[in-house]
Amino acid sequence: EALEEAVVEICSSLDVDAAKLDELTAYFIECMEKGLGSTSVGEEKTVDKGLPMIPTYVTSLPNGTERGVLLAADLGGTHFRVCSVTLNGDGTFDMQQLKSKIPEEYLNDREITSEELFSYLGRRTRAFVRKHHPELLKSTGENIKPLKMGFTFSYPIDQTSLSSGTLIRWTKSFKIEDTVGKDVVRLYQEQLDIQGLSMINVVALTNDTVGTFLSHCYTTAARPSSAGEISEPVIGCIFGTGTNGCYMEDIDNIKKLPEELRTRLQHEGKTQMCINIEWGSFDNELKHLSATKYDIDIDQKFSPNPGYHLFEKRISGMYLGELLRNILVDLHARGLILGQYRTYDQLPHRLKNPFQLCSEVLSRIEIDDSTSLRETELSFLQSLRLPTTFEERKAIQSLVRSITRRSAYLASVPIAAILIKTNALNKRYHGEVEIGFDGYVIEYYPGFRSMLRHALALSPIGTEGERKIHLRLAKDGSGVGAALCALVA
Ligand code: GLC
Repeated sequence: EALEEAVVEICSSLDVDAAKLDELTAYFIECMEKGLGSTSVGEEKTVDKGLPMIPTYVTSLPNGTERGVLLAADLGGTHFRVCSVTLNGDGTFDMQQLKSKIPEEYLNDREITSEELFSYLGRRTRAFVRKHHPELLKSTGENIKPLKMGFTFSYPIDQTSLSSGTLIRWTKSFKIEDTVGKDVVRLYQEQLDIQGLSMINVVALTNDTVGTFLSHCYTTAARPSSAGEISEPVIGCIFGTGTNGCYMEDIDNIKKLPEELRTRLQHEGKTQMCINIEWGSFDNELKHLSATKYDIDIDQKFSPNPGYHLFEKRISGMYLGELLRNILVDLHARGLILGQYRTYDQLPHRLKNPFQLCSEVLSRIEIDDSTSLRETELSFLQSLRLPTTFEERKAIQSLVRSITRRSAYLASVPIAAILIKTNALNKRYHGEVEIGFDGYVIEYYPGFRSMLRHALALSPIGTEGERKIHLRLAKDGSGVGAALCALVA
């Protein structure tokens, strides 16, 4: 059957085998090394500078005994959160939060200015304070008790200190041009002041991966496993709307840090610094990553940042449904599927509009093992108002499974690369390592974690290495992590 043949061909173009994992992992390590030496993090396309490898100025990790009440704000790809975090000093914390879905217009309206976005963040922060910390609004003059806040800003930042950094470019959905090049802490603090919240001091700027990593360290350091062993926390990572990770690097190796800063840190006894890799940007030149025509179309025609974050566009939750949509539209154009719609224009609008097919729909199809693929039928009917035949559903399920398998397999590349580069699997007696993660894809997508593990076993670290890895969810890590950052600031 023509449809079946076409699907087999597309699925095989999404395949990532062990040889490809080897090749990508070796190239990832090369790009990490290059990025540590290159002073610019502007990732200009013309010059090959390796990965962004952004120094975060975080030079020590929490040990679980940290205490205090701190505020945190977190701007992600779909939500803005404000929280107050009480660190109890024993690896536990209490948290109150206000989570708001970012209104569509801030993501899609090209007229929106930076000031309008940060004013929205300021207003949401005031709403949080009114609800959870009304005492702050009542205090005046002498009585004002300043509160420290950590700001998790999950976009590439040229970080200039623990508490400042300018936006290199938006990723995920935002496209507000006039934020680029500005210090996002200043933009936010200005709006807090306007909202009468100048008792809040934004003292730390961090990325969600770093937050996840710190929060993971805080909660696990105090609680060794039952065998009394503590494995080494090595990586913090996110697989959600976007994907990225961080790890501790020897300051000696971070050649891009100014010489005098490196010497000063070493005098203070600091030997390592956390690096925000911005791995979504891996191989933007497509030297080793393969590209199907769907990848090229999504990047060039539909994504807000063409030419950038190409690795992320093959992995993260924002793009999984978009890949399926592009493939289905192509199969329809070739007359192989959804024949009841004679032309492209007649297709249901959710199939015509980019980013309308969300990964939750895919996750239901992925695990549908009913005989007639009833779950898939319902998902398509509900989410796209699209009736399908059994044959079509079989095709769709194969496509979905290939799209997510590629995502999970590629996700193993940075993890294997970091473990090899830092030699983490050979440190300590057992060489066991901890990876703290967050993000809806790795938390909820059925089978993602086991596919990732499978790929790690196939990767250069092999089954031996894979067995030493403990993957742990650091839920709400970016909030707790920002608080931890603010505490040391
Ligand atoms: C995007 C951002 C990065 C963030 C990641 C996960 O890749 O550029 O800063 O960490 O998404 O949210």
